[in-house]
Amino acid sequence: MSWDIPLFKIYWDDSDLRGINEAIKSGRDWAVGSNVISFEKGISKYIGSKYCLTFNSGTSALHAVLLAHGIGAGDEVIVPSFSFIATANAPLFVGAKPVFAEIEEETFGLSPDDVAERITNKTKAIMPIHYAGCPCKIKELKDLADDRGILLIEDAAESFGASIDGRKVGTFGDSAILSFCQNKIITTGEGGAVVTDSKEIYERLKLIRSHGRMENGDYFSSTDYMDYVTLGYNFRMPNILAALGISQLEKVERIIAMRKENAKYLSDRLKKIKEISIPIPPPGYDHVYQMYTIRLKERNEMIKHLAERSIMTKVYFDPIHNTSFFRLKQGYQTELSVTQRVSDTVLTLPMHPAIMRDELKQICIGIESFFER
Ligand SMILES: Cc1ncc(COP(=O)(O)O)c(C=O)c1O
Repeated sequence: MSWDIPLFKIYWDDSDLRGINEAIKSGRDWAVGSNVISFEKGISKYIGSKYCLTFNSGTSALHAVLLAHGIGAGDEVIVPSFSFIATANAPLFVGAKPVFAEIEEETFGLSPDDVAERITNKTKAIMPIHYAGCPCKIKELKDLADDRGILLIEDAAESFGASIDGRKVGTFGDSAILSFCQNKIITTGEGGAVVTDSKEIYERLKLIRSHGRMENGDYFSSTDYMDYVTLGYNFRMPNILAALGISQLEKVERIIAMRKENAKYLSDRLKKIKEISIPIPPPGYDHVYQMYTIRLKERNEMIKHLAERSIMTKVYFDPIHNTSFFRLKQGYQTELSVTQRVSDTVLTLPMHPAIMRDELKQICIGIESFFER
């Protein structure tokens, strides 16, 4: 369906075109090449991690990071049900069991108290997300993980650039994943990355990402024998897309500033409506607004009301444990009352860096008119 006001648009400019053009025109290195390495170095520098390895999606990054940390059959990984399904599927990819925990209602991230109750002697890792660009209670989760001797792996797919007291998300855990899918803060169309300070994890990830091959050079232009030493995949980000990553990363601060300004416009206006809760990050939490999500009781009616005005909205997220896959195929009978309550009332509004002031006004007018009926 085509909307007058879609949920998001991709932010791009001439530098993206130039980067991609050059990559194409070179007539070589469309798969593996120097753009990948430059993009990875740029991400590490920006986030503040020692190592970064790009992947062809956030989902393959999740798969690879769990393998690299040695998580497998018999292990449990605590995840939120209030997330995109890949967060919960990742433990299944490696033969482990995702255990759903509750979220708290301030950041919509994992509740440290509830997570603590679900830790068993099988728990290998906690894998929280930073919902919509707002950091979760990651410091508390880190303390808990350290205390109980388990891993903390951040799913930072939605929160590139978000921080707490100046420290970027993705640097609190043992490793973190990022996503560069088209609706994320910066995008390569599809893409992802793992950031970590561990050389050992980084070296394992390199093997997992590319067929388990010992790559001491560019496979496609080297005549050297390269041995295969473990089971691996092709999870590589194409060099041609890494060109986009580089040009997108160059403008990330501008992109985030524009998102924040647009979010502020919405919040300033919508906070006057008593039936609506706007996102309010805790003090010191820097929210980058990958999505702008409000809460309201009459959520489903509002979706219809705005759709009649050709304004797209969407529910991010319906709980994962309620999907047919988890209930019927995986046999989950989980009950999570906070997750359910939040999920029943959230609504993500259209918001992106280049959204026009007039479009933001139309969204607010649409919402206001709903309560004036
Ligand atoms: C929290 C979360 N985790 C993982 C992913 C998966 O990332 P990708 O779409 O790049 O595979 C997403 C993307 O939508 C996400 O929002």
